[in-house]
Amino acid sequence: MTNKIKIALVFGTRPEAIKMCPLVKRLKQNPLFHVLTVVTAQHRQILDSVLELFDIKPDYDLNLMKPNQNLWDLSSDILLKTKEVFEKEDPDLILVHGDTTTAGLSALSAFYARKKIGHVEAGLRTFDKNYPFPEEINRVIVDSVSDLMFCPTELAVNNLKNSNIKQGIYKTGNTVIDALLYVIENKKINLDYLGLDKNLKTILLTSHRRENFGKPLENICNAVKELIEKNKDIQVIYPVHPNPNVRNTVYPILDNIERVKLVEPLDYVPFCNLMKEAHIILTDSGGVQEEAPALGKPVLVLREETERPEAVEYGGVKLAGTNKENIISMVQTLLDNNEEYQKMSKAVNPYGDGRASEYIENIILDYFNLK
Ligand code: UD1
Ligand code: UDP
Repeated sequence: MTNKIKIALVFGTRPEAIKMCPLVKRLKQNPLFHVLTVVTAQHRQILDSVLELFDIKPDYDLNLMKPNQNLWDLSSDILLKTKEVFEKEDPDLILVHGDTTTAGLSALSAFYARKKIGHVEAGLRTFDKNYPFPEEINRVIVDSVSDLMFCPTELAVNNLKNSNIKQGIYKTGNTVIDALLYVIENKKINLDYLGLDKNLKTILLTSHRRENFGKPLENICNAVKELIEKNKDIQVIYPVHPNPNVRNTVYPILDNIERVKLVEPLDYVPFCNLMKEAHIILTDSGGVQEEAPALGKPVLVLREETERPEAVEYGGVKLAGTNKENIISMVQTLLDNNEEYQKMSKAVNPYGDGRASEYIENIILDYFNLK
């Protein structure tokens, strides 16, 4: 028992959980590893629903979420609380995911504890510190303290190589495809309870990014309102993120509008099934930009820049930005022009083959000379 490699996986938000749970499950099956799951619970309800789906009971639940939390308090809480866990458990390797405050501060904490660090979903960059805010800087922090960097694509690999990182860079694909394929293959469900009209084309909308708070999100909502007025054959469903900064803008504009359904965040299984049924997806989400191309769904990204340009290059994703007229015109083109729609819905998925967790496991085994 004592010579097992102790690996702590730290995560805290919905998307990190979706992308880390397949890896937790994979590593737990290997008797050479002692796996610890540490959740900061930067998110609460929408984190718990993912843990439940993958049947993962955290070894440590730091329970940090506060209503309408700010970056300073959350950051210092993560730094101090993970310190206690790292000192008590003394892991051989600490894995963090992506670019959230949980990722950035847990990695910094692990660095202060002089631990080996692995970054899952490494190498994403816009090279603009304000887009996305604060995630771009979290990415830079995590990659600069990491020993192992698991990159989803070649582009991410090159971003790291070009920033002068010399070793520890691997291309593995994104574990989001592991999660998505698991759900799509094993968890088909009926979505009648959502009350969508089967005769209408469904547009699925999600938006939650900090840099879209205020005017940009208002523009997005007003664009949806005008599209609904103009097109009697469409309906919009928007699972609204629990962040009050999102809800306080969205509800006053879109609540009680005919053919617009504002719903609570959906559990991952219904959400994947809904992506499959949607005609068009409008989103500023990182994860959805990766999942939708794997399902052959056209995505218009409601952001000025993306750190995930691969699917844009392949044609399944386009940047629509947050200008109202621009969003309306790009959606209208997809509704009216079948050739354009077909071009975008060609299912090309640049983000992996669903075996990223297995590749990561093998790299860790190699790193500790366990092969
Ligand atoms: C965070 C991440 C963002 C990621 C997003 C995924 C940072 C800075 N931001 O943004 O990168 O894209 O998660 O969703 O790390 N809330 C609840 N219940 C929940 C979750 C959130 O009520 O289960 C509310 C709380 O009031 C909370 C607020 O949302 O304070 C904001 O949560 P926070 O994690 O700070 O920001 P997100 O916008 O969720
Ligand atoms: N998602 C979900 N329910 C929803 C909205 C999104 O399960 O109501 C999933 C989605 O499939 C993706 C992840 O949550 O895997 C994305 O999370 P989010 O958009 O909050 O964060 P981001 O990816 O932008 O960091």
